[in-house]
Amino acid sequence: MKKTKITADARLTIGEISPNLYSSFLEHLGRAVYEGIYEPGHPTADEDGFRGDVLELIRELGVPMVRYPGGNFLSGYDWRDGIGPKEARPTRLDLAWFSTETNAFGTDEFMKWCKKANITPMMAVNMGTGSIKDAAELVEYCNHAGGTTISDLRRANGAEEPYNVRYWCIGNEMDGPWQIGHLTAEEYGKKAREAAKVMRWANGELKEDNGTVWGSAPLKLIVSGSSNHEIETFPEWDRVVLEHTYPQVDYLSMHRYYMYDPSSPRPLEDFLGSADDMKEYIGTLRATIEYVRAKLRTRKRVRISFDEWNIWTVTAPRREPLWKSAPHLLEDVYTFRDALVFAGLMNTLINSCDIVGIACLAQLVNVIAPIMTETGGGVYRQTSFYPFKYIAGAARGKAVRTFSDSDSFATKYGTARTINEAIAYDEEAHTVAVSLCNYGEEACELSLELNGFGELVPESYIEMTGELDARNTFEDPNAVTPHRRDLPIMEGGATSFVLPPMSWSLLVFRN
Ligand code: AHR
Repeated sequence: MKKTKITADARLTIGEISPNLYSSFLEHLGRAVYEGIYEPGHPTADEDGFRGDVLELIRELGVPMVRYPGGNFLSGYDWRDGIGPKEARPTRLDLAWFSTETNAFGTDEFMKWCKKANITPMMAVNMGTGSIKDAAELVEYCNHAGGTTISDLRRANGAEEPYNVRYWCIGNEMDGPWQIGHLTAEEYGKKAREAAKVMRWANGELKEDNGTVWGSAPLKLIVSGSSNHEIETFPEWDRVVLEHTYPQVDYLSMHRYYMYDPSSPRPLEDFLGSADDMKEYIGTLRATIEYVRAKLRTRKRVRISFDEWNIWTVTAPRREPLWKSAPHLLEDVYTFRDALVFAGLMNTLINSCDIVGIACLAQLVNVIAPIMTETGGGVYRQTSFYPFKYIAGAARGKAVRTFSDSDSFATKYGTARTINEAIAYDEEAHTVAVSLCNYGEEACELSLELNGFGELVPESYIEMTGELDARNTFEDPNAVTPHRRDLPIMEGGATSFVLPPMSWSLLVFRN
């Protein structure tokens, strides 16, 4: 049996894990909103048409913040279409997804849903067909107390109090030729800077020369970085955009989807290498941010919002006709193999928490999502639901640096570690969470040495393993779930246990 040793010390931390690292994303795409979170007439729907069964699973998942309304959809969306009396709302062509948008669900419905779900809204403004005026006016609609035509419109629409939305994405994937209104880095950088400026002004943010600051809660602005690291403008796009916007923004976004490609020469190894590749991608953007920071002679630190990440295996051709409302699109059914890679991606996000302040699992319901619904029927948890739920629930506080003698294997990205881990220490909750993927074909005896955490007692130990192709479905919703394992014996901060081949494990210790 293989042996690997992992050591960690409570004093050697990477940084604070922001709860927003466990955020998600809902786009007007396929059945994410309609028939996903919103389905008037569904047996579990409330008076607002929000599905109760879906809300329950979202609560179980533990998502703190949700990005909305897109995605590619955003770049053709006029937010004014989605407010006011429903019967008067226009029906539009959605050119991003070749669907029909009824606008039955819009900003006010999203805010109401967030409140019920206890979720922080993360809004996005259209930089494709939208102007900086549209962006500023949406901020006014959401955040201005009243007394102007636009803010009084919100009050007339039923929301007397402002929503006080703090997190705003300035556009979506504007580097992509697939984007409605795609721009060059220069064009987008300038437009995003001006949008940021007027959005802040609409929010009442004013800093006078004498240092007086008006407005108590500044916006957290996210400028669109690269859509992926294979696009030819990466990382130049990020440098140029940041040079235009650095003083105005708080986060640079990045997106990345990984896929299992059975036609590649080393399909499994390449897929299992995703977590290490994600680490490199984050590293390049970190360096780009540092470069611009140095060039601009500023002490301000911009962080990363990894606001779209997931596994997305684009295999099935579109089954639905064009221009359907709420078509079945991107309804990937995840395998155990996907869950295994997914857990590794989460480990990478935790280990990058000093630079990644927000991460959004894309998406939340039906569309490349951990939760699937049947129209008028039930729900089930996909395989990816479990690593998300358990890691988000346990990996809190600070990420701790790990030292490992794991061996590695070759992938199309270079090499990847066979044992992929993340350790989080929550001093307040007195817990240490250890997430471990074994990407090897052999079982591995893992020796874990946790120093400086005080007297640690094992509290829980779950494991996922099985057939790589196994998946959950409506017919068999519990085919792939984690199972509990007996707690290992711990002596003086050291313990050892066996990780089965191709498995993900999560151990929680208490001090
Ligand atoms: O999440 C699906 C799509 O992926 C989003 O609309 C877009 O931003 C990305 O390309």
